[in-house]
Amino acid sequence: MYKIAVLPGDGIGTEIVPEAVKALNAVGARFGHEFSFTQALVGGAAYDAVGHPLPDETLNLCKESDAVLLGAIGGPQYENLPVHLRPEIGALLPLRKELALYANLRPCMLFPDLIQASTLKEEVLRGVDILVLRELTGGIYFGEKKRGFNAEGIPEASDLLKYSSIEIERIARFAYEAARGRRKRICSVDKANVLESSRLWREVVTGLAKEYPDVETTHMYVDNCSMQLIRNPRQFDVIVTENMFGDILTDEASMLTGSIGMLPSASIGGEVALYEPAHGSAPDIAGQKKANPLATILSVAMMLRYSFRLEKEAKLIEQAVNQVLTEGYRTPDLQEPGKKTVNTEEMGNKICEILTAVR
Ligand code: IPM
Ligand code: MG
Repeated sequence: MYKIAVLPGDGIGTEIVPEAVKALNAVGARFGHEFSFTQALVGGAAYDAVGHPLPDETLNLCKESDAVLLGAIGGPQYENLPVHLRPEIGALLPLRKELALYANLRPCMLFPDLIQASTLKEEVLRGVDILVLRELTGGIYFGEKKRGFNAEGIPEASDLLKYSSIEIERIARFAYEAARGRRKRICSVDKANVLESSRLWREVVTGLAKEYPDVETTHMYVDNCSMQLIRNPRQFDVIVTENMFGDILTDEASMLTGSIGMLPSASIGGEVALYEPAHGSAPDIAGQKKANPLATILSVAMMLRYSFRLEKEAKLIEQAVNQVLTEGYRTPDLQEPGKKTVNTEEMGNKICEILTAVR
């Protein structure tokens, strides 16, 4: 029996998460696994209900579970709350920190049927398969934040970007281990020409590289990386980078997959891992059944793989996603002429049909 904490959160989170739960149940029925789901509030939904975006009850449930499935958090109605009550700073970041989820895995895999859905050319995209490892519990997201006035009385603000060598080494090690199971190349992304924290980052990675002579190590500045990702994305195997660079680069990299609605993620490091789509709560389309549930469904495939070591089951979900796309079903974010448009729930149903039927 696998115990899963389910945190739908805000916006489209409440629409996509049930589809991923359905997919897990279909896999469970097929392979004889039992998944138990306990739902809890997080983000704006929790603030509305109980006055805090990360209630103790929710955090405790996560800690007691075998894995956490999160939808998305945030929305315009919460943007003017005091900072500590905002869904991002009050819930998502502390959740990552409390669960010690320092490694965020965002795999950009290309489903061949979606090549046309990308804004990039087919010859650029063919064969793209990148794993971005984003450091998730350090750097500028967690450094000291200050607001004040300078000597002339002009408002000022600052966010501290700080890393210890321990934080750098553990994410880099994770990247090297992951690269060993792939094409054995890591590209460490930093801004070492300007930032001291990046110079330490580069030193630590360079030192660690000696322990992994079988893995090719390269270093790239983040500005160049953002250009190379759309110039020639096939050059990358594993990218490892600090928290904010990883946030920005993975939104960019999601377009290699056709839509940000296709990018799953796993956040790993502590005893319990967390799985969520890399996209946000999309308030502009929330409540309209338009959201693409595939990133969340692919995130539970990662849950099966990394938390439960159920590789066959994980692959089956990925295969079902591939098949549904080959059959021409598309949520509106992936719309192309000649394809069959389905809503969030219909897409989830199609996936479940395949999970149940495929041999
Ligand atoms: C992500 C998101 C979050 C982040 C936001 C919602 C705080 O953009 O997971 O990429 O910046 O980490
Ligand atoms: Mg982001």
